[in-house]
Amino acid sequence: MPEPTVDAPAGGAAYAIRPGTAADLPVYRSILFHAVDWNLERTLPSFEEIIDHPGLARFHRGWGRPGDIAVVATYEGEPVGGAFFRLFTQDDHGHGFLDEDTPEIAIAVWPGHRGRGLGTRLLAALAEAARVAGIARLSLSVEQGNPAAQLYLRTGYALVAETDHDYVMVATTAPEPRGSAG
Ligand SMILES: CC(C)(COP(=O)(O)OP(=O)(O)OC[C@H]1O[C@@H](n2cnc3c(N)ncnc32)[C@H](O)[C@@H]1OP(=O)(O)O)[C@@H](O)C(=O)NCCC(=O)NCCS
Repeated sequence: MPEPTVDAPAGGAAYAIRPGTAADLPVYRSILFHAVDWNLERTLPSFEEIIDHPGLARFHRGWGRPGDIAVVATYEGEPVGGAFFRLFTQDDHGHGFLDEDTPEIAIAVWPGHRGRGLGTRLLAALAEAARVAGIARLSLSVEQGNPAAQLYLRTGYALVAETDHDYVMVATTAPEPRGSAG
């Protein structure tokens, strides 16, 4: 189930960002739910119906395959959001698909913890993880009207396409040359 709203105190001391693991799959499913449920005035189907819909399930099913990378935001050690990316193919991909070398990202911070800089920190952590993994670009789709688009533009994403409902955006990382890590 989605997490209850929490009124967290302002300030960043109790917040942290850590790498995600396979054990964080419930967090990734919640990220996807909240990414769809960004407009809190809209009534949506149940949590399970949303995240098990094929359009969204492709983002979390079989988590742990090569190229799956995630970061988790915590408040006093408990997950309060996160972000991840995953590679897709021409035959099976999300709305933000660019090519088979460019992972699509997903991000959410639980209600009650938004507007405190966590989204900015998560996107920076994801970009750094991509850079270290030798990934040159990250892409995403964001529904038109979602204020998250402003956050993406502020953190280095650029608009590359527009559909009836979505914007597609891309960020370029400065990847480490393959084989130079370590
Ligand atoms: C988008 C989201 C991850 C940003 O996380 P955050 O911790 O609030 O981000 P920050 O505090 O670093 O930055 C806030 C920015 O996010 C945007 N934003 C989107 N929804 C917001 C909300 N409910 N409250 C505050 N900021 C929000 C604002 O444009 C704001 O930009 P600004 O700082 O230039 O004013 C978070 O608001 C969220 O989970 N939203 C719902 C899920 C969602 O839309 N995911 C993306 C789908 S494409």
